[in-house]
Amino acid sequence: MKYFIETYGCQMNVADSELVMTILNDNGFESAAEIFEADVILFNTCSVRQHAEDRVLGRINNEMKHKLSRNVKIGVIGCMAQRLGEELMQLSSGVDFVVGVDMYDKLPEIISSAFHQEMLSVTDINNEQVYPDIMPVHQDPLKAFVTIMRGCNNFCSYCIVPYTRGRERSRGYAEILEDVRIAVEQGRREVMLLGQNVNSYQYQDISFPLLLKKASAVHGVNRIRFTTSHPKDLSDHLIEVMAENEKICQHFHLAMQSGDDEILTRMNRGYTASHYYNLIAKLRKAMPEIAITTDVIAGFPGETEAQFQRTYDLMKAIEFDYAYMFKYSPRTGTKAALYTDQVPEEVRLDRLQRLISQQEKITHKKYQEQIGKIREIYVEGISRKSESEVAGKTPDFKVTVFPGTKEMIGKFINVKIVDAVGWTLKGEVII
Ligand code: SAH
Ligand code: SF4
Ligand code: F3S
Repeated sequence: MKYFIETYGCQMNVADSELVMTILNDNGFESAAEIFEADVILFNTCSVRQHAEDRVLGRINNEMKHKLSRNVKIGVIGCMAQRLGEELMQLSSGVDFVVGVDMYDKLPEIISSAFHQEMLSVTDINNEQVYPDIMPVHQDPLKAFVTIMRGCNNFCSYCIVPYTRGRERSRGYAEILEDVRIAVEQGRREVMLLGQNVNSYQYQDISFPLLLKKASAVHGVNRIRFTTSHPKDLSDHLIEVMAENEKICQHFHLAMQSGDDEILTRMNRGYTASHYYNLIAKLRKAMPEIAITTDVIAGFPGETEAQFQRTYDLMKAIEFDYAYMFKYSPRTGTKAALYTDQVPEEVRLDRLQRLISQQEKITHKKYQEQIGKIREIYVEGISRKSESEVAGKTPDFKVTVFPGTKEMIGKFINVKIVDAVGWTLKGEVII
């Protein structure tokens, strides 16, 4: 029996799709190269914003056409499955089964029940689930996403994740290191450690900085990345470990969300704008070349123009290399969705656009500043635009394209940056 998985949402969902593939492969299923060859179509979904959910529902309705020509079952897994459960079957008549994020080990059974005409929704939360017996098979031949924890306890007032993913729990460090070791042994040189708040990783006496140290000591790994960090839990120890260890990439993703203290309090973020600013200063002091990226929300309930302006100004003062900017989207079940002072949609959109256009200029400037520097690129493939060029990333995650051949794929090559076009650096190999 063949399956096809379509994945939405964050890197954790990408990692979970690999987990699901591993579970299915171990149980006699086979991965289909194309959706139209599959007997089972799985949508691994995201609930973080309404838009993410609408897109998937549209896709499911679109793929229902396969049911006309053959016996295919459609399943929804991931955060939307967890949030909506059975309701999904009403929202889309094409959905045959729904499986929540802690129940993936039951998928083989559930799929077989679906073929016996049972409509199933299995979304129990298991706050201990870390899938200890499954070593996910990573799909990308060059880099691996390694889950180090699941769930989130922070309950930021706008966010659905603590409800869809359950309580925070850390995966055993021995399993994590084994996962890294296998990934590297199979030829990968880059590993990204994943969790909703990696700074609070704790397994027995191993904290996140110690885990990072151990992961970077795995023989053969060249680059260790991690995401994401919460400003309230970012320790000096982590900064120290990063600064002194050249395998840990000098890129930090640190969600700021807002530059206004009252909004940060209402978001339940647990830090002030000045605390955030000081963290950035500390990171840059310890690692002058570090790239810093962030997430920001425009139009959180009650946000006044003056409060928005503080976000705008703080982003200007900090100059992030890149920012993921969102307009606030109310999520049913979260505290902020109940606030009565919701900001009108057109104001949210206008603020978002102002943030985006300011950030575009800053990112442009940051990329221009790279010109003339020598950077190490991990080559990931042939450039999408030209057969005679290859593309890869700097340690701080900047896409770089330069003349080269397919033999360079998987290698680390030093290039001199000669230009920056949009969000892409152009390089020349230095000999
Ligand atoms: N755990 C990560 C964030 C995961 S969600 C962290 O705390 O850094 C990714 C981003 O989506 C968040 O940082 C936030 O900026 C955005 N987001 C979450 N819920 C949202 C909502 N209801 N509306 C708009 N953006 C939201
Ligand atoms: Fe959501 Fe906050 Fe948890 Fe991030 S830390 S997943 S924003 S609740
Ligand atoms: Fe989305 Fe779930 Fe990730 S809501 S952002 S897929 S944890």
